[in-house]
Amino acid sequence: MKTSIIASFSLFLFCAVSSTSQAHLRERREAASEITVTLKLDWNVTALGKPIPPSYTTKVPNGTVVQDIMNKAAGEDKQSPFNYYKNTYYGGLGYLITTINGTGQNQGTSSYWSKFDGDSLVAFPCGGDSYVPYNGSTILFRFTADPYPNNNKSANGYCSGHSTSSQVPLSAITVTIGMDWNTDVIKKSIPSSYSTKVANGTSLREIINKAADQNRRGPFDKYTSTYYGGQGHFITSMNGNKEDSKTDSYWMIYDKTTKELFKPFIDQYKPQYGSTTILKFITSQEPEPSSGCNFMGTSLVVLCLLAIVEAL
Ligand SMILES: *[C@@H]1O[C@H](CO)[C@@H](O)[C@H](O)[C@H]1NC(C)=O
Ligand SMILES: *[C@@H]1O[C@H](CO)[C@@H](O)[C@H](O)[C@H]1NC(C)=O
Ligand SMILES: *[C@@H]1O[C@H](CO)[C@@H](O)[C@H](O)[C@H]1NC(C)=O
Ligand SMILES: *[C@@H]1O[C@H](CO)[C@@H](O)[C@H](O)[C@H]1NC(C)=O
Ligand SMILES: *[C@@H]1O[C@H](CO)[C@@H](O)[C@H](O)[C@H]1NC(C)=O
Ligand SMILES: *[C@@H]1O[C@H](CO)[C@@H](O)[C@H](O)[C@H]1NC(C)=O
Repeated sequence: MKTSIIASFSLFLFCAVSSTSQAHLRERREAASEITVTLKLDWNVTALGKPIPPSYTTKVPNGTVVQDIMNKAAGEDKQSPFNYYKNTYYGGLGYLITTINGTGQNQGTSSYWSKFDGDSLVAFPCGGDSYVPYNGSTILFRFTADPYPNNNKSANGYCSGHSTSSQVPLSAITVTIGMDWNTDVIKKSIPSSYSTKVANGTSLREIINKAADQNRRGPFDKYTSTYYGGQGHFITSMNGNKEDSKTDSYWMIYDKTTKELFKPFIDQYKPQYGSTTILKFITSQEPEPSSGCNFMGTSLVVLCLLAIVEAL
């Protein structure tokens, strides 16, 4: 009896001590490496007729790239302007933002989005998925026709290596990605598929980006996507086939074996060992394929997505 009380008490003590020391360690590590960064939007208010939303300041681990900070802003606040932005992926270069919360080239101006170091007003020398800001910096997203106001200085942050690596991880799995559409409707041949070795758990987005990086101007290069806060990148066009509500054309994802269709949220989809993932461009001129939960209307789609997120 006594020994068991002593045993459980010392076990309790051990747990308490080790958990507090772990908490301390974690705190110390975070304090040592966290930096403060501000995201700020800017445009000509007279020309666009829209107010500039408030800026966003946050703490992130040193080394975090700008795109992850934008995505953090989107994840934390449903009203964030970064909750909904469109981009194009260029193989070897990374993402280029085309629209932020509806403001983009569709505005009928010659302006486009550039990212600046807010102090030196130098445009980033690399994409938002490789630019690492420094402590206390402001990242200025400016919708402008002149992205080089201060060409002589250099930005204070730095460009990390481009995100997709050609290194094969130790516990690699082989995955294949391909495309498909009805060639009677879309009169273009189906490009050949792409196989590669990646770490288990790699998202479809990283695999597509790797394919684009390795074959610039290949079928996966320059795909466009919309980023939704909390859900990630959603494919809107690939290999020249663009989603279009007028013709009811859109992209979906399925596994060649199970054939279950998913919305093209490519961060959430993680292909398995030996699998072939097909990106399918569906057009209204063909019979609807059978599906799991995704075709049942928007609210159900949202429910399904929530279920997927929960499962992760
Ligand atoms: C970042 O800057 C803030 C404010 O100047 C400072 O308190 C903090 O310690 C800095 N962080 C690091 C990791 O140096
Ligand atoms: C902003 O837009 C207005 C109207 O198009 C223009 O007259 C003005 O020069 C612009 N301001 C700047 C700083 O570019
Ligand atoms: C952040 O990391 C960079 C590169 O490793 C380093 O040069 C810089 O001093 C670090 N900054 C802070 C505030 O820790
Ligand atoms: C995003 O755009 C919508 C529609 O134009 C607008 O109502 C909303 O205020 C914008 N959000 C931010 C944070 O600018
Ligand atoms: C850049 O440098 C050149 C030559 O050193 C100088 O003539 C020019 O005014 C500078 N431009 C800016 C924007 O500082
Ligand atoms: C990959 O990871 C999943 C989930 O963690 C696991 O179920 C699966 O067995 C792993 N596959 C391989 C080949 O390691």
